[in-house]
Amino acid sequence: MGKIKIYYFSPTEGTLHVAQHLGERLGQLIDAPTEYHSYTLPQEREELPTFETDDIVLWATPVYAGRIPNKTLDYVRQALHTQTHNKSLALVTFGNRAYDNALAELVGLMQDGGMQTVGAVAMVTRHAFSDTLGAGRPNHEDLAALDRFAVQVAKKIRSGNPTVIHIPGEAHPDKYYTPLKTNNAPAGFLKAKPSCDSTRCTRCGRCLEVCPMGSITNTDGMPAFDGICIKCQACRRSCPTGAIAFTDEEYLSHVAMIERTFAMPKQPEFYVAE
Ligand SMILES: Cc1cc2nc3c(=O)[nH]c(=O)nc-3n(C[C@H](O)[C@H](O)[C@H](O)COP(=O)(O)O)c2cc1C
Ligand code: SF4
Ligand code: SF4
Repeated sequence: MGKIKIYYFSPTEGTLHVAQHLGERLGQLIDAPTEYHSYTLPQEREELPTFETDDIVLWATPVYAGRIPNKTLDYVRQALHTQTHNKSLALVTFGNRAYDNALAELVGLMQDGGMQTVGAVAMVTRHAFSDTLGAGRPNHEDLAALDRFAVQVAKKIRSGNPTVIHIPGEAHPDKYYTPLKTNNAPAGFLKAKPSCDSTRCTRCGRCLEVCPMGSITNTDGMPAFDGICIKCQACRRSCPTGAIAFTDEEYLSHVAMIERTFAMPKQPEFYVAE
């Protein structure tokens, strides 16, 4: 048995938390060491991963607008295109709205790349936009369900049988979810960026280090938000003084809409290859 190689994109660390739980459980069950690789930061996406044939690949990504985050898609596609035909596991996290096509898209990329996907999971996590949506998830029951899934997957890995897995959604979607406002009109916040309250900023530099797009620069010690912003919330949530906020009205209306519409807790979903 090779290693369990865990790759994750996790700007606000919800995805990392779930990937760690699943990776460690599976490692115990099949007696394999785990190895973690972030591809969250730009410099971490400069090189593609390498896999040995007997490595098991656990690939973890949040759902953005119902799919794999657009700006990471090329990297994920290339990384999963291997000559080694690894067994793989797909993990997506979503903030209690819906995972739409994201899991099917991730499994589709694994299969297009020649991997054999033995299991796939969509786990509910806190929505990066909100403090209420998905708050406290994954909870005790979610993690117990994840443990049961790990047992099924471990059996499947040991059995070594050829695998077929069925995931709802489109493996090659052509559209993203359109975010709506409270009045149900489309929310146009593609160009929205965070801003920084200079009276609260201590110039610690933390936000510059965590931006997955490398879009925050230092202007006389203060952050300047000048590049592409994917609204991941890493800067806002990692700022120790709460100096960063999104004030764009379309964005705030969308957050109010999802908090109102998707308050009812969703359940995680698990798929094991037959
Ligand atoms: C730009 C953006 C788009 C998102 N789109 C969705 C979505 O379509 N459906 C959903 O349920 N959650 C959505 N979420 C919530 C994330 O999937 C969730 O917060 C995830 O756990 C974030 O992962 P991280 O904590 O590893 O950064 C979105 C979050 C962001 C930042
Ligand atoms: S993390 Fe917050 S306090 Fe630190 S530089 Fe950025 S905005 Fe200022
Ligand atoms: S500037 Fe945008 S992309 Fe960069 S960390 Fe902040 S929210 Fe994420």
